[in-house]
Amino acid sequence: MQASVIRGGTPLEDERSEDASWGDPPSLSTFVFLQATGRKLQEKIKILKLVADSGELTMITENRYKIAQEAERTSHIRKKDINILDRRLSSAQKIVLPYIQQIENLINKDNFSVVDVGSGPTCLARFFKSPHKTYVDPLMDFYQEYYREKLPVANNSTFVASMAEKMPFPSDSFDVALCYNMLDHTFKPANIVAEIKRILKPGGYVLLGIYTHGPILKFVRTLAEKTVIFKEKPHPYSFTIGNVISMLNGEFLIRQCDIRKGREIPFDFKRRFYVLILQKPAHGNKA
Ligand SMILES: C[S@@+](CC[C@H](N)C(=O)[O-])C[C@H]1O[C@@H](n2cnc3c(N)ncnc32)[C@H](O)[C@@H]1O
Repeated sequence: MQASVIRGGTPLEDERSEDASWGDPPSLSTFVFLQATGRKLQEKIKILKLVADSGELTMITENRYKIAQEAERTSHIRKKDINILDRRLSSAQKIVLPYIQQIENLINKDNFSVVDVGSGPTCLARFFKSPHKTYVDPLMDFYQEYYREKLPVANNSTFVASMAEKMPFPSDSFDVALCYNMLDHTFKPANIVAEIKRILKPGGYVLLGIYTHGPILKFVRTLAEKTVIFKEKPHPYSFTIGNVISMLNGEFLIRQCDIRKGREIPFDFKRRFYVLILQKPAHGNKA
């Protein structure tokens, strides 16, 4: 079978072997062909970006979520060294501390309540000065056993083993919610956003940390999700920043939005870590 080229979207036979000699300068038709191909490619990339960026997130199955959580749990056991947590804690502290201080200044009182949603064993809310902290994670029983002496010990700390899609707290309970590097690990991220809004007091703050991918990287990851070998087990979701903004869905005021870590790779293969400060509107439902 002969190789074919795409010209203006139509597959045609490659006539080069008969007509062109390698020494010839490119003909006008070759030039027009290259331009057309470039344009087509650009259009396709644009469409791909739009689809990936605005597309609704496909909800994962319960089984996929179980695979993610099992991968999360075994990743801790595989490291075989609970002191790794100290290193993770000090590198995360460098990023979160200035935001925590900013929120403390905004709240401007000593006693306020913080919920750390998807706290993991790092429990980053420990860096808030206020003593009233609640840590929520579905793997909390495991963390309490495995990292026994590493979890925060303050008397007013409460540890809750629960998924964040439905948390066992009354509405308007907390002044601050920390939601750091967890939404892409979860079962129904949009429900978690709604649940955080429910349990926050009006005017309360959220410190959201989240990895995002450029639309093309997201597309590649979506394909990888369909394979056994290349799927990133602990991360069932891949978000573009567009997905994140539409998930927030006008529910929160965006007070600040920073890119804290990013890799610029050609063709939009971006991976970025965003940190946002959000606020639940004081009155009414929508931001
Ligand atoms: C990468 S860890 C991040 C932990 C911590 N926030 C940090 O930044 O170090 C993600 C955590 O999200 C938790 N998680 C997964 N699904 C969740 C869900 N449905 N609700 C709440 N937390 C969840 C996992 O158990 C895991 O501890």
